[in-house]
Amino acid sequence: MKIAIIGANGQLGSDLVKELSAVHQIVEWNHADIEITDIDSVNSAVKAVSPDLIINTAAYHVVPQAEKDPNAAFAVNGTGTLNLARVSQDLSIRLLHYSTDYVFDGQKQAPYVEEDSPNPLNVYAATKLSGEQFALNYSDRSWVVRVSGIYGKVPCRAKGGNFVTTMLKLAKEKPEVRVVNDEVLTPTPTADIAKATAALIQTDAYGLYHMSSEGQVSWYEFARAIWDTMGLTTPLYPASVKDFPVTVKRPFYSVMENKALKKLGISEMNDWKSGLINFLKNQVR
Ligand SMILES: NC(=O)c1ccc[n+]([C@@H]2O[C@H](COP(=O)([O-])OP(=O)(O)OC[C@H]3O[C@@H](n4cnc5c(N)ncnc54)[C@H](OP(=O)(O)O)[C@@H]3O)[C@@H](O)[C@H]2O)c1
Repeated sequence: MKIAIIGANGQLGSDLVKELSAVHQIVEWNHADIEITDIDSVNSAVKAVSPDLIINTAAYHVVPQAEKDPNAAFAVNGTGTLNLARVSQDLSIRLLHYSTDYVFDGQKQAPYVEEDSPNPLNVYAATKLSGEQFALNYSDRSWVVRVSGIYGKVPCRAKGGNFVTTMLKLAKEKPEVRVVNDEVLTPTPTADIAKATAALIQTDAYGLYHMSSEGQVSWYEFARAIWDTMGLTTPLYPASVKDFPVTVKRPFYSVMENKALKKLGISEMNDWKSGLINFLKNQVR
């Protein structure tokens, strides 16, 4: 299959390139190669390559920045996805688009399944939800894949890192580290998302999917596992979200159950702890 990956040099995109190039012909699109907010750019890039499948990892996803500039966030997360869906549909190309656990408000306090109603609390999440709807409703052969707390070897380009790399840096530089113990989710390595994506695109079961590691953990518990695995000695303490100034409303519980993936028999996702240990042993230098 010829697959064009948008955001190929990003955190998730680079692991997708690595995983999928073993079996497929990959076209790597970085931001200089395609501007998804611009329909003409999308049309000409896609027509020049004629892929069988487009995978979109591009997003406007610095959450506080999206509050300040909702138009810019909607241009990428909403209109950008609409452009991809329209062009894919016109040219009979399949589309896989990534979304987020942040579409939920956290009130359920139990793992969210694909049938649960979203209720985005902030601009980033609302614009990502619009992108989901554009992908699913403007393209007949599309997958929307929600991921959560992602971390990979290549740092997130928009955020300049990820939770794991930030913790390792803080442990080195600070006398002590405090991490919230009342925000619960399932952090997921991008390498595992790439593996499950490789299995999903072998099917024609289009639609909405949750794709996160198994289990659930607070950010503090996750940090504690990093400390234990790496033998870090800097004091680490639990904190509350109330201890930090609230800049943007977020869900404090966003665990997802991979119900639709499991129904397809795709079981590539590790539990969060073995995913983390694997990442720390193999990918952190
Ligand atoms: N980080 C998380 O914890 C998290 C959680 C849930 C969901 N997600 C989702 O996961 C996906 C991947 O995140 P990531 O960490 O891999 O992101 P990333 O490292 O920031 O990579 C995003 C890529 O998309 C490119 N891009 C951005 N805007 C573009 C545009 N308008 N047109 C074309 N390309 C554009 C970026 O290029 P430049 O950098 O050169 O602009 C970069 O190559 C996103 O959809 C995000 O919403 C992330």
